[in-house]
Amino acid sequence: MIDEVAIAVSKPSTKEPAWQALQSSPLASAATQTATSIIRQRRSAQQFDGKMAPMSQADFYRILSAVLPTSPAFQVWRWSAKIHLFIFVHRVEGVTSGVYALPRHHDALEKLKAGSLDTFKWERIAKELPLYHLYSGDCRQFAKTLSCHQPIASDSAFSLGMVAEFSETINDAAWLYRRLFWETGLIGQVLYLEAEVAGYRGTGIGCFFDDSVHELFGFKDTQFQSLYHFTIGKPLEDKRIETLPAYEHLEKS
Ligand SMILES: Cc1cc2nc3c(=O)[nH]c(=O)nc-3n(C[C@H](O)[C@H](O)[C@H](O)COP(=O)(O)O)c2cc1C
Repeated sequence: MIDEVAIAVSKPSTKEPAWQALQSSPLASAATQTATSIIRQRRSAQQFDGKMAPMSQADFYRILSAVLPTSPAFQVWRWSAKIHLFIFVHRVEGVTSGVYALPRHHDALEKLKAGSLDTFKWERIAKELPLYHLYSGDCRQFAKTLSCHQPIASDSAFSLGMVAEFSETINDAAWLYRRLFWETGLIGQVLYLEAEVAGYRGTGIGCFFDDSVHELFGFKDTQFQSLYHFTIGKPLEDKRIETLPAYEHLEKS
């Protein structure tokens, strides 16, 4: 099945739009290290401290603002944003635990509202970024269950699903299925690096029960699909795992 899908979504030769410089993110980076050292120290957390002090609201907002299409990493992205975040907030100072949404394109807001649960509130909570409060409550158990029962989704400060505008995109051209994953991948890499900058750590989550995720958000058809999940918190180090400096094997030769 996977091989068949890979063939069906092969990219034909296409004419793509030129790159366009966008304005920079309004939230400045907090990085004090060079990009090289952050890239080299980046790892995936295998476990998080479920008793961590809450992440500050400033760190939370800065990490999220880094994945908006106006932020520097997305200067390389020449297409309009088709991936939006649904976030489970567990431990963030001044942000009520619950479900939030970050539409990464203003045109998606009304579509997401119409396509998700009627009971979601859609209250904008920040002027710095398009972050909407949908539901208040402790989401740790269902974040964990939905992520193949992995505690990394619940012991973190927050975890999230990257929700694609799915059928509308791939009905245009099948290869856009790949491009949706490229976009989630770029968001994931930015989250990995921004987590390190803020003194936290991230982990990509590829194992999740998508039908249950869709049911929870109220997605009824294939208009929206969650393609990749992510989690960020205070890592607990597993001392049994040996860590060598990044690219050590290259530096020896
Ligand atoms: C697309 C993707 C999906 C992943 N899914 C999971 C996951 O479901 N559970 C998990 O514990 N780690 C997951 N990871 C983390 C990988 O296990 C980790 O990236 C890999 O072991 C390499 O380690 P590093 O990120 O520290 O270099 C995922 C990473 C990526 C990029």
